[in-house]
Amino acid sequence: MPFVKSIRVWGAAVIAAAAILSGCGQPPDYPPDLTFPTRDDRLVLRTPADRQPASLGETGKLDVELAALDQLGGRTVDPASAPADHRVALDRFLTDTFGTPASPTVRADDQVTAITTKLGLTPQPLAEGGKLYRRRCLHCHGLPGDGRGPSGYGVYPPQPRDFRRGSFKFVSTGNGGKPRKTDLARTLREGLKGTAMPPFGLMPAEQRELLVPYVIYLSIRGEVEFQTLRAMLTEGDGGESVEGDPAGFARERLAAVVREWDRAASTPTGPTPPPTPDDAGKQAPSHLDSVARGYHLFTDEGGTGCIKCHQDFGRKSGYWYDVWGTAVRPHNLTAGGYKGGNEPHDLYQRIRSGILPSGMPAHPTLTDTQVWDLVNFVRALPYPRELPPAVRARVYPETQ
Ligand code: HEC
Ligand code: HEC
Repeated sequence: MPFVKSIRVWGAAVIAAAAILSGCGQPPDYPPDLTFPTRDDRLVLRTPADRQPASLGETGKLDVELAALDQLGGRTVDPASAPADHRVALDRFLTDTFGTPASPTVRADDQVTAITTKLGLTPQPLAEGGKLYRRRCLHCHGLPGDGRGPSGYGVYPPQPRDFRRGSFKFVSTGNGGKPRKTDLARTLREGLKGTAMPPFGLMPAEQRELLVPYVIYLSIRGEVEFQTLRAMLTEGDGGESVEGDPAGFARERLAAVVREWDRAASTPTGPTPPPTPDDAGKQAPSHLDSVARGYHLFTDEGGTGCIKCHQDFGRKSGYWYDVWGTAVRPHNLTAGGYKGGNEPHDLYQRIRSGILPSGMPAHPTLTDTQVWDLVNFVRALPYPRELPPAVRARVYPETQ
């Protein structure tokens, strides 16, 4: 359509806005000359060790708060202080490798391409996923997946996820693994309860299946950029070195990051949960015994130590810094409503794999029975009558 073509560059934003407002029709194209922006926000390398954030943070103040971390004993670096020729070389590498929003791709050697193809990161689905992303996600998660879209500032805390760090919270791949595609698909389908991340369960499943590789694509691109910038900016003070060849360094990082995604995709899935008890089953002695064992594991300061962070079962949790330098709070477990899902297998994974970017550790050494005991306890915790009397007396002393 020549009319659309001629106004594409100038009118794309208007078309996007119209499509969002009308909520129907084909997703709009990205202007063909649009490139991903050169990263100019600070990289958080270390959060203040002994300090806890005073609050969850203030809406719209993300970048001010990140810049203040240095005075509190953290470490951030400003991409503007990287040598100009290194920045140019990195940006050229990123465009050559990952294309543009209108033509997303991953151009790499055969080994990397074999993996990215397996992950579905091929030009056609990426371009389709990118258009859907533009319409449904970009206003929060930003064009390069930096979590700084125009509405993103308004929803903090928590800030929409910055995919460029390569870190995800709701994973089922053990200690520090990337998410599987099914983990990301769950987040999209169900949303993250208690946060601005909405459920997209009404979106056709084929569309969610196109968005998942696009999120992975943005994350890989952003993580390669993050790691290369970090090396450029910390060279000479104990960090890695790009050794005068930012593109070569970035190429190696790309291979390593892609292998991590591949490893996650081939990690064995967790065990099948035991059948969920009905109301009568919840009062069965064997179930109550499991809840009581879960309570002991939870409150065992020397062992799993859940209670050290989820103080008073989470009612009195303090704030923490996550890897992005923003604040989180260990969940109030007496309130239910978990971000990553209420189902036993969701909670199994939260406990087994941890929520590493938020500082909740993985628990690789617990037996499966111990994890299910903890799951049963956590699921019963919001409901006093589902707790065995001795446990209820400890958790809800006021009911005695
Ligand atoms: C209204 C704002 C908003 C919109 C729209 C939105 N998100 Fe999010 N998203 C968030 C917030 C906020 C979080 C972080 C929640 C947290 O950290 O607890 C998040 C987190 C995520 C995560 C991280 C999950 C993890 O395991 O760490 C993914 C993936 C994600 N969003 C994908 C998407 C995709 C894809 C779309 C579009 C289909 C989308 N989001 C639309 C606000 C939004
Ligand atoms: C070092 C601190 C720490 C420890 C120890 C810890 N947690 Fe957490 N936990 C957190 C933080 C922080 C969050 C919130 C993460 C977020 O929202 O990003 C959390 C969230 C959770 C959630 C909510 C998940 C969701 O989907 O919203 C559950 C359930 C949970 N923890 C259970 C446990 C259990 C059970 C243990 C012990 C086996 C435990 N935690 C140990 C810090 C901790």
